[in-house]
Amino acid sequence: MDVNAKLDRIVILTGAGISAESGIDTFRAAGGLWEQHRVEDVATPEGFARDPDLVLNFYDMRRAALANVVPNPAHEALARLEREFSGDLLLVTQNVDDLHERGGSARVLHMHGELKSALCASCETRTRWEAPMLDRPPCPVCRVPSLRPDVVWFGEMPYEMDRIYRAIESCDLFVSIGTSGAVYPAAGFVQEARRAGARCLELNLDYSEGSRCFHETRLGPASELVPRWVADVLGG
Ligand code: OAD
Repeated sequence: MDVNAKLDRIVILTGAGISAESGIDTFRAAGGLWEQHRVEDVATPEGFARDPDLVLNFYDMRRAALANVVPNPAHEALARLEREFSGDLLLVTQNVDDLHERGGSARVLHMHGELKSALCASCETRTRWEAPMLDRPPCPVCRVPSLRPDVVWFGEMPYEMDRIYRAIESCDLFVSIGTSGAVYPAAGFVQEARRAGARCLELNLDYSEGSRCFHETRLGPASELVPRWVADVLGG
């Protein structure tokens, strides 16, 4: 890929791989989250209806575990890009952790929601949330004790899709970092970007299900690839 080509609009999609070196389990690796837990039990509305305690406890533990991890150089490099890139940048993450923000990114679109947010099933308000939910705290707005994790489950619509597709349609470069290309709609962004004429670059530890759709795939750990790529963009 020509790193010297003038770039005005970049869309970046990140997945679990960018947080792996911070110590957060990915989903589909051997021993990953989806081997430890059944998706149908902890990541579907039906699973929540069947056993809310199991689901609330699962997300309470993942939220609490954020206190034990820190951003890595990949998160920090994307924050540098946000500060120093003179064009338009949209950072979209499928991750529900807060490592992009703690790494310094101020504008992050969490298409699959956030661990540190609560969604009230009664009044539908989204509220910043750090505490456990297992003990059924009341919604700070309507006072009904019907909070659930503000995380998009299978069968639910991810957030901000219109805004994401608009940005993809007009970007020069689409970059996918540390995601398996297994979960739609995010897995389809690369095809949309190609159709719109954007260059498509993948940064991943290994080839993914979507690799063949990219113009270029660079293999390696995100903590090395992402700072190098950001330096190229800012220096080019
Ligand atoms: P996956 O666990 O499916 O994939 C992680 C990707 O990161 C793989 O392609 C790995 O090769 C790559 N990877 C691992 N370590 C890496 C490293 N150090 N550097 C670079 N790449 C690395 O996670 P996602 O693709 O993010 O959705 O999963 C997508 C969605 O599936 C999640 O948001 C979640 C899950 O089910 C919901 O819960 C709705």
